[in-house]
Parts: sequence; structure tokens; C-alpha cells
Amino acid sequence: MALYSEKVMDHFRNPRNVGIIEDANGIGEVGNAKCGDIMKMYLKIEDDIIRDVKFETFGCGSAIASSSMATELIKGKPVSEAMKLTNQAVAEALDGLPAYKMHCSVLAEEAIQSALEDYRKRTGKEE
Ligand code: FES
Repeated sequence: MALYSEKVMDHFRNPRNVGIIEDANGIGEVGNAKCGDIMKMYLKIEDDIIRDVKFETFGCGSAIASSSMATELIKGKPVSEAMKLTNQAVAEALDGLPAYKMHCSVLAEEAIQSALEDYRKRTGKEE
């Protein structure tokens, strides 16, 4: 069996939503101290809907595939739904990741949560 699913390879080779959003109103950056990978998420939220999302990932193939899939999963969705995105959902949408690469999907969840928190801070919507 191949180590990585077709979907992981596809999102690694053709990542969706790569780049930055100049007028983002939610930005989150997280890193993993062990592997040194860094992920940055940009959100453009209007009327509580994620109108646009882009990412920059300095990291492994699984981290790039996870960021790409995570952006696809939250694009066009309400903030409340994006807040519930888990790393398991990202990994499942990629048809799985090897166990030792699961932390790469955690980075995607954390980057999105961090960007959403930044949005809440900026807009005073902090709970
Ligand atoms: Fe650390 Fe993939 S090896 S994010």
C-alpha cells in the first residue's frame, strides 16, 4: 500500500489557496517545535462567512496537503462551522495520513483556530 493517499499527493503537488490575503481580517501563525514546520493562515471574513482563505506553509508534504485541504473545508463556510474543524476531519478528507504524520494535520487545525481567534480579537467578538 502506498504511504500517502492519492488525495495527499494531489494536494501536495497542486495545493489550493496558496498565498496571502492583503486585507485579511484574521491571521494565524503556528509552528511545531519538533519538526520546525511553520504554517500561516489568512482569512477574509464578511458577515460571519469565510469569503476567502489562503495559506503559506514552510513544511513537509503532509503539512502542505493538510493546509490545502483545511482551506478547502472552510472556504465559504460560516465562522461557527470553521471553529469546529478538527485535524481528524482534515486527515479524513485526505483519505488518511500515516500515524507519525498526524501532527501535520494538527498544525492546520491550530493555524485556522489561531486565525479565527485573531479575527475575534480584531472585531471584539471574543467570548
Ligand atoms: Fe511536522 Fe509535517 S513533519 S508538520
